[in-house]
Amino acid sequence: MGLIPEEFISDLLHRADIVEIIREYVPLKKQGQNYVGLCPFHSEKTPSFVVSPHKQIYHCFGCGKGGNAFSFMMEKNGGNFVDAVHAVAKRYGVNVPQTEKSPEKAKQDKLRDRYFKINELAARFYRNALHGSSGQDALAYIKKRDLNTETQENFMLGYAPAGWNNLSKFLLDKGVSQHDLILLGLSIISQRGTLVDRFRNRLMFPIADDRGRIIGFGGRVLDDSQPKYLNSPETPLFYKGKHLYGLNLAKASIRKWDQLIIMEGYMDVIMAHQHGITNCIGSLGTALTANQARLMMRYTYNTSICFDSDAAGQKAALRGLDILEQCGCRLSVITIPQGKDPDEYIRKQGKDAFEELIVKAKPFLEYKLLRLMEKYNPDTVEGKIQVIEKLLPDMQKITSPLARQAFVQVIAEKLVFPETAIYAELRKFSGVNRNNKQDREVKRKCTSIHALEKAQRALLKLVLEYPEVISKVEAWGGKELFNHTLLKEIYQNNYLMRQAGHNIKANDLVTLLDNPDSQQLLTEILIEEDSPGDVKRIFNDCLINLRLDYINNKIIEKSSLMSKYEESGDVTKSLEIMSQIQQLVKEKQSLATTLRKGGILNEN
Ligand code: GTP
Ligand code: MN
Repeated sequence: MGLIPEEFISDLLHRADIVEIIREYVPLKKQGQNYVGLCPFHSEKTPSFVVSPHKQIYHCFGCGKGGNAFSFMMEKNGGNFVDAVHAVAKRYGVNVPQTEKSPEKAKQDKLRDRYFKINELAARFYRNALHGSSGQDALAYIKKRDLNTETQENFMLGYAPAGWNNLSKFLLDKGVSQHDLILLGLSIISQRGTLVDRFRNRLMFPIADDRGRIIGFGGRVLDDSQPKYLNSPETPLFYKGKHLYGLNLAKASIRKWDQLIIMEGYMDVIMAHQHGITNCIGSLGTALTANQARLMMRYTYNTSICFDSDAAGQKAALRGLDILEQCGCRLSVITIPQGKDPDEYIRKQGKDAFEELIVKAKPFLEYKLLRLMEKYNPDTVEGKIQVIEKLLPDMQKITSPLARQAFVQVIAEKLVFPETAIYAELRKFSGVNRNNKQDREVKRKCTSIHALEKAQRALLKLVLEYPEVISKVEAWGGKELFNHTLLKEIYQNNYLMRQAGHNIKANDLVTLLDNPDSQQLLTEILIEEDSPGDVKRIFNDCLINLRLDYINNKIIEKSSLMSKYEESGDVTKSLEIMSQIQQLVKEKQSLATTLRKGGILNEN
């Protein structure tokens, strides 16, 4: 952005009516204050697409897409922001002021756009090939694997024909350069020096980023030959270990259910979605990375792993869980009985059966215990001790005494071993390894995360709807009250704009957020039903709880700083920090008292 004057953009947005604009594409029906219709961005039979004339935004509760008039035009017509502004301006018969020359960033964006377009063309080519004469075997294979038409479309499945250079020729004809074809991993130079297609005679799975733009491809053979799968190499758009298959289609329901399920293969994810289990994403066969964990945590902290039940799948599951745990996710493991993979299980047993497995998912530690009991013989005393020894570090990390007790009970029961003996081992172990602060902190953070996130969403919504409360929120810490990155970003953007004297509305804010994830989150929050109850009361509750969390974090931070000064013998500094901590503790106590008394605050 930045090329068209901000003022023009804002005026245009206020002149435009989103209902009018969207109506030209989607039939809408009035429902209460809003309009609803079938979402134009994903296929659905019951309407979950909501347009608010009041707030001038739309949001789909099915696929999560949301935004203002400009976002709608971009999404619908595939252009960039400037194109969208032009389209809306044209509809309302106004001229867009002339723009200046684009900077370096615009050049880069243009390049990326070009790459996305090429991938899009390739995906379309593969899709047409699937439905053309050469695609018969592939289509038969898709049918054999029970994938229906809706699924084929949702996942944009295609077929790479068997010849040497069908795609390369097609794209060269369209003006794509040989250089770009190789860079994007679509073509390779053969040993004879000719340009050939990387993917030949394979069923094609386009891989999209979380915004649904195609970044790469996976291709599966139609028979038992090897390699079974071929994936795009690393390209300017596709980095290994940074993406999750199907996230673009899963993210709305991940938010809705506040849980996600990680599976291993393309087929597993696709089959799960086909059966309406739409919060599933794919790790694409490699061990999960911290990058992927962080990507997941934008949507939820509750993660379940559902890998194949063969040995390799189980091992991969354990590797993935460790990284997720380190990042602070809550973890459970879904186990599929009888050596099946998720695809086969869901196909044969159906949605209800799989949902039962979800309910029966084992917390990570219990799962680890069961695996260890398979490895060491739990019928011998040595075996029991080996299992316990392996679990000691995990036990020690549990900070809640109740949770720890519960886990020790489970171990004692499963191993038929006295609880007291396990506690004795644990004490010995703790004596050697002092419980480290960082572990405790991580643990503390994940337990209450969910409630805090809810409070942050509610507070943000109130701030947006009642701008007059901002000064109070600021007095209580402002953006520091938000530890959710996207919510913080939205809060701060709104605050800064208001500070600068702009009386912005919610739909202006949508435009100001560069990050599409924040945009979608914003529209979701805005269009959601208000929580029932007294607004003032909700506001106070959120404020107190978030402030308490903020203070707790500060206390931990300052305590560790104080020990550092103590160690280095800087008494003055350490005393100074101690008094700051005392101050924080005092505030904490008074807040806690207020909460106990029913959370009513004095004005200011
Ligand atoms: P189906 O066998 O068709 O059911 O596929 P799947 O998705 O269940 O595959 P599988 O469980 O065998 O493997 C899980 C994932 O690992 C796949 O989806 C691929 O992402 C990856 N993978 C499997 N085989 C290969 C291979 O030969 N090469 C590469 N690069 N990746 C593979
Ligand atoms: Mn499979």
